[in-house]
Amino acid sequence: SNGDREKVDYVYKVVVIGDSAVGKTQVLSRFTRNEFCFDSKSTIGVEFQTRTLSIKSKVVKAQIWDTAGQERYRAVTSAYYRGALGAMLVYDITKRHTFDHVAGWVEELRAHADNSIVIALIGNKVDLEEKRAVPTEDAMEFAENQNLYFFETSALTGDNVEAAFIKLLEEIY
Ligand code: GTP
Repeated sequence: SNGDREKVDYVYKVVVIGDSAVGKTQVLSRFTRNEFCFDSKSTIGVEFQTRTLSIKSKVVKAQIWDTAGQERYRAVTSAYYRGALGAMLVYDITKRHTFDHVAGWVEELRAHADNSIVIALIGNKVDLEEKRAVPTEDAMEFAENQNLYFFETSALTGDNVEAAFIKLLEEIY
């Protein structure tokens, strides 16, 4: 942490979206606190975490919003997306339905978020390779067609989490 003394050049709001249980909260905790929790509870309502880091020699404070993937907890979406410059759209590589719903999440972003929002598609849980249900190529092709950045990550091992967030923050810059 750079503490509060260092001057912040930019504050970037980023939202994390995707189906329930894909690992949104854990990806975020891995990035902001380098922590992982096995018995993560489903998010209720909206929470945010921050991390301040250096991007292209500027001090950027990432304010990352996490919300419930479960429909019944999802309140008004416009407030959630307001002012968001980036989005992490997460699915679980071991659960095909979470990838099948990605197109719907992109539609929601296009409907509620700013047109210039930078989107990263995140296939999480790559540590469970033996249970993979979504081929990398399928997601890569979707991401190319929709103009999304694409990463496969593991919140558990930390694999690619930092790289994905840094790419998103650099592209917002
Ligand atoms: P909602 O709050 O319901 O929308 O869920 P979420 O998307 O925030 O999922 P959460 O981060 O709570 O993780 C759901 C479950 O998946 C938890 O049991 C996590 O421990 C597990 N999990 C998250 N990321 C990973 C990962 O990279 N690998 C493995 N093996 N498990 C993970």
